[in-house]
Amino acid sequence: MNLIIAIDGPAAAGKGTLARRLAAHFGLPHLDTGLLYRATGRRVLDAGGAPADPLVAEAAARALTAADLARDDLRGPAADAAATQVAAVPGVRAALLEFQRSFGGGRGAVLDGRDIGTVVFPAAAAKLFVTASVAARGRRRWLELTARGEAADLAEVIEQVRRRDAQDRSRAAAPLVPAADALLLDTTTLDAAATFTRALELLGTRVNA
Ligand code: DC
Repeated sequence: MNLIIAIDGPAAAGKGTLARRLAAHFGLPHLDTGLLYRATGRRVLDAGGAPADPLVAEAAARALTAADLARDDLRGPAADAAATQVAAVPGVRAALLEFQRSFGGGRGAVLDGRDIGTVVFPAAAAKLFVTASVAARGRRRWLELTARGEAADLAEVIEQVRRRDAQDRSRAAAPLVPAADALLLDTTTLDAAATFTRALELLGTRVNA
């Protein structure tokens, strides 16, 4: 069985936690595809380049190695902004497509991102579009930051989430939209455990487990 579970949605909707739980449940490998864009952006910043420069960004995506994905500086405001910029470059998306497809091509996988169900695996049987209100997602991001000891202003973090949503949704290359056959899961009032339970209920119609 080659089961692909495609999980898409905006930032801080709970995709990552859900993807890890589903991967453990179904015994599948998991790929957080946002890391590919973050690592690409980080390479460009390291070289002193501009993440929005298409040639520089595509070259960085083509040069990615496994070590880049394991870096510990892929989160934070600079990495967020660079990732969002390189993700809008069509050449970057093309360069990262093959890696994502081969990751899922063997015995199946859980992948989370923005375009897994629409572009990377449009034929996946199991697609979830995970979302939550901007206020709920901003609050979660803020709690993560403060738990790490970083000073953060709640209103400012909510505004950053709103801005990244707008950029991801309005870009020409693979904009963030639910696939027509995606199952919608709104996590505004759900914690991680309730989100997982609901996801299994929804997937029950698509996955024989
Ligand atoms: O999920 P994340 O915050 O780690 O994603 C970082 C950036 O990469 C964000 O701007 C969305 C973009 N992205 C994308 O365009 N396509 C994906 N499959 C995953 C992430």
